[in-house]
Amino acid sequence: MKTFINNSWQFTPQFEKDLLLKNRSEIKTKLASVNIPHSVNEMPFNYFDELSYQKISGYRKTFRTFATWKGKKVFITFEGVAHEATVYLNGHTLGTHSCGYTAFTFELTKYLEDVGKENVLVVKVNSQETLDVPPFGFVMDYMTYGGIYRDVYIEDKPQNFIEDIFVTTKNDNANFQITFNSNPPSASVVNIFLEELKDAPTRLQKQTKLSAKKMQSQKLQTTNIVAKKSFTINGRQKTFNFSLETSNPKLWSPETPNLYKAKIEFINDSTKEKTLQEVNFGFREIQFTKEGFFLNGKKYKIRGLNRHQSYAYLGYAFPKSIQKFDAHILKNELGLNAVRTSHYPQSQHFIDECDKLGLLVFTEFPGWQHIGQSQKWRDQAVQNVREMILQYRNHPSIFLWGVRINESPDDDELYTKTNEVAHSLDNTRPTGGVRCIKKSHLLEDVYTYNDFVHCGTNQGCEKKSKITSNKNKGYLISEYCGHMFPTKTYDDDIHRTSHAIRHAKVLNDVQKNEDIAGSFGWCAFDYNTHQDFGSGDRICYHGVMDMFRNPKMASYVYKCQDEKDLVLEVSSSMDVGEHPACTPGQNWIFTNADSVKMYFNDCFIKEFFPHSEKKSFSKKFEHLSHPPILIDDFVGNRFIDEEGFNEATSNLAKRVINFAALNGQSNLPLPILLCGGILFLRGVSFAKLRTLYDKYVGNWGGEASTYKFEAIKNSEVVKTLIKAPVKELSLDVKCSSTELCIDECWDCAAIRICVKDQNSNILPYYNESVIFETSGNIELIGESVSSFKGGMAGTYVKTTGKTGKGELVIKTRNLTKKIPFAIS
Ligand code: GAL
Repeated sequence: MKTFINNSWQFTPQFEKDLLLKNRSEIKTKLASVNIPHSVNEMPFNYFDELSYQKISGYRKTFRTFATWKGKKVFITFEGVAHEATVYLNGHTLGTHSCGYTAFTFELTKYLEDVGKENVLVVKVNSQETLDVPPFGFVMDYMTYGGIYRDVYIEDKPQNFIEDIFVTTKNDNANFQITFNSNPPSASVVNIFLEELKDAPTRLQKQTKLSAKKMQSQKLQTTNIVAKKSFTINGRQKTFNFSLETSNPKLWSPETPNLYKAKIEFINDSTKEKTLQEVNFGFREIQFTKEGFFLNGKKYKIRGLNRHQSYAYLGYAFPKSIQKFDAHILKNELGLNAVRTSHYPQSQHFIDECDKLGLLVFTEFPGWQHIGQSQKWRDQAVQNVREMILQYRNHPSIFLWGVRINESPDDDELYTKTNEVAHSLDNTRPTGGVRCIKKSHLLEDVYTYNDFVHCGTNQGCEKKSKITSNKNKGYLISEYCGHMFPTKTYDDDIHRTSHAIRHAKVLNDVQKNEDIAGSFGWCAFDYNTHQDFGSGDRICYHGVMDMFRNPKMASYVYKCQDEKDLVLEVSSSMDVGEHPACTPGQNWIFTNADSVKMYFNDCFIKEFFPHSEKKSFSKKFEHLSHPPILIDDFVGNRFIDEEGFNEATSNLAKRVINFAALNGQSNLPLPILLCGGILFLRGVSFAKLRTLYDKYVGNWGGEASTYKFEAIKNSEVVKTLIKAPVKELSLDVKCSSTELCIDECWDCAAIRICVKDQNSNILPYYNESVIFETSGNIELIGESVSSFKGGMAGTYVKTTGKTGKGELVIKTRNLTKKIPFAIS
């Protein structure tokens, strides 16, 4: 049985030997009460020193020996400790683990006290970046934090137990490779029961405002047994293979994330003891060919983003519900079909949710550009591959193993080993390894490359043939954009738009290149980073969402590639003073509707259709099913209706005025000047054209205007967006959940806050202060006085260990919102 021991630990930021003393009263070191997941330091939002989490700290926990453990083997598992952990039980050293991103288990049995007596568990945690293990050794563009930041649990097992189950599938056949801790007695029995996990495909797909009730309904139900088979073990060995036929299993895919649960019962022939183990898996087949990526024989274009597992204030130390919530954001809010867990294996809770939601995962072992030269470092890197694959290989969502240190140079000696380890532990998944070098040695199955070629004016990506050293293998783009165009939520309209359009351009060109399996943009969320990177405030503003997971403009480019929710967004507030010289420039509509009608002060201007703009603009995105649509007409029929022009004159004048609206009034090209000439001959002087421009486009000195956009689907208006002068402000608050649940560990809600106008537009220059107050049985994580950034803010509240009620009050100038929480 698994017993989580996340609560009631004692912590000191400075490890001292007296922590090992049995008697609490003899310990001189000051200890604070903490719960796991825990961060060795709580940091501010930005402008903090990476040294603040680099410590050798100590954790201490006492627990009693259960009567039920008698005659059993007892183990402790740490799902994640950053970055080197030495574990002691009752003064005895159990061992040291030196990877901050994989789990580890130590056996406790030998040193446990008698039943009922208290045991002292101590963990010395080294979170210094001077450690000689990956990812350390040089600079890194992400903070690495410190602490016991994932779950801890104790498990008791019989003397002879199943140590590992690895399920692989092919068509309607599931193969179970079962490994025992020691040779099981011959004539023992293994029963395999297969159950379907229900609800997986539809769960939470419509989620925008998560309510706790919905979170509850997420729990997967198993249905009746769909297949069952008994096997008798013969022969003195530890590993056995069992196959189970299942007729027409429901396949796992991003659209149908069907999961199965295998229950594996082991009946020991000599003791007659029965134990039951469970594993979730999915039926699916992966293939990378020179043509691209295939899942169950169907070609998919991978559309993903990179995710760092960090958050504001506590870094890595966020519990299950928040990990899951990120998966929901990526799949349901951004409409992605894939994520890359840059640059290390991430929480099992996050990957479990990817399994359930149908989000493909490219995961990789830890590292960033640097390969250590010591044997210790290199051995640890190989060990990290081993641990990653053994710990994650039953997840159907994982489709590719990254077995090169991200962006490192060729190192055939090391990468021959990492590939060998990966293939020997899993012959069903290909290996990749992210590089930034072209034509490097390809020891992997897939060439995965960070393609940062796009700078806003050129091609979105390189051709496969220019990059890969083996055209016959698969090719995947593992990063793009990122540092090429950092963007803050409070940057101006033009900057935010350019950020969005760059992402769209790369997506388009990846789509165009049939032989590129897909791409992962850099990146999903802004993240805290070292002094050597970022904007000087220890943040890399590379996300399509901010650190609190609030949307930037670029997020709509992704969201509207998906069909689930109707998207209608316009890249500009359409305010006259936001663009230089009152030139509107390029403003874009992001939508997945059939068309969008635009009205100016209630006067119909144009119905915009995807792919209908002129030449260069439509060419830019012709391969996207839902391309950004350029607003290329500000006039419509107004010259006919209001100026009395005939159609021909109106068309000529529109051409000139719209050209100037998009490109400015100086340096007009010859064709536009010629139109001007013809207009002159028709009695429309240059001075008149200027007046027309000022009246219909520039509007300098005119009254503020209103633009209305109607999204049309199947000939009906399905969504309306209005850009009008701001009259009223309101707070829009989204909680990941308002019903928190203390189970394996503390629970947390992510709060995302926007200030919106009367038409539900986020106000990008609302940067006022915001105050958070909690009462009842919740506490705030992070700063109680903060500020809006680009009209958006965020915070987290957590449980205190008590059930009941809690309230969060959010206050900003003239606006207050109270959020009630229920804690069970
Ligand atoms: C890449 C690197 C990422 C991130 C990105 C920023 O070179 O792999 O971790 O730093 O650049 O664009």
